[in-house]
Amino acid sequence: MKHLLGLEGMSAAGLNRLFDAAETFAGVGVGDVPKRDDLKGKVVVNLFYEPSTRTRMSFGLAARRLGADVLDFSPSGSSTSKGETFIDTAKNIEAMGIDMVVVRHSSPGAPHVLAKHLAPHVRVVNAGDGAHEHPTQALLDIFTIRKKLGRVQGLTVGLVGDIAHSRVARSNIHALTALGAKVIVCGPTTLVPAEVAQFGVEIADKLDDVLPRCDVLNLLRVQFERQRSGLFPSIREYRLLFGVDGDRMKKAKKNVLLLAPGPINRGVEITPEVADGPNSAILDQVTNGLAVRMAVLSELSRAA
Ligand code: CP
Repeated sequence: MKHLLGLEGMSAAGLNRLFDAAETFAGVGVGDVPKRDDLKGKVVVNLFYEPSTRTRMSFGLAARRLGADVLDFSPSGSSTSKGETFIDTAKNIEAMGIDMVVVRHSSPGAPHVLAKHLAPHVRVVNAGDGAHEHPTQALLDIFTIRKKLGRVQGLTVGLVGDIAHSRVARSNIHALTALGAKVIVCGPTTLVPAEVAQFGVEIADKLDDVLPRCDVLNLLRVQFERQRSGLFPSIREYRLLFGVDGDRMKKAKKNVLLLAPGPINRGVEITPEVADGPNSAILDQVTNGLAVRMAVLSELSRAA
């Protein structure tokens, strides 16, 4: 694997190799556990054109625990405000002598553009491109399922909510189906594009019917910032039909695993009692994300 641009087309063997590697990175650099030197002497750039807390910090920490130097770019305060283009910015940072770029951008395909325009030795990682893919989020979601439930194959996973704007949903669909899970996509008809059916998923619009069948629920954030016109359904309607609260949890399997990519809209997709309750693995996902991102960076550094 030379770049990680998306999970579409990645095999079960390729996915499981990353998960097996991630198992070896858990705890590296914590307390008395030594850091690794997989990226010693390398420079990793975080090139984030959209806001981020988890992904940006997690990649930064992962790279440092592997021995890399890390550069952080944000458009605010940079020469982007003077009109410098995306490619010119990347080429100028490349000229400083870099080895990897972790890129987040609102335009689908932005990481692919970098992979094409930067020098062949520079590795590119997609940290979220528009509504297209967010591969490391899906990897850490599925790694968390694997750790908590011991397997992925044969499980039924509900992806709930704003599918239309969700790069997390797309990456999860590709990887979960490759690994043999059943995927149910459930949300308001206005937020579930019909074309997702081509990926072999079941589409549903009544969460209460789907809940008893799911081993895992991944509650996607309603992306208010990407709504072009007035939100339909309204927040009140969304909460009523798709919000997961204590009462709705009674319809789910007792041990259902609850995931959410974060940030969560508390009280919209999920109530605090459920987000912080015994079925929730939301913070485990964040912890696991570090090991998963170390595995990705390490594998890319070894690719020919
Ligand atoms: N889940 C996720 O990508 O979070 P951030 O936007 O905070 O990175």
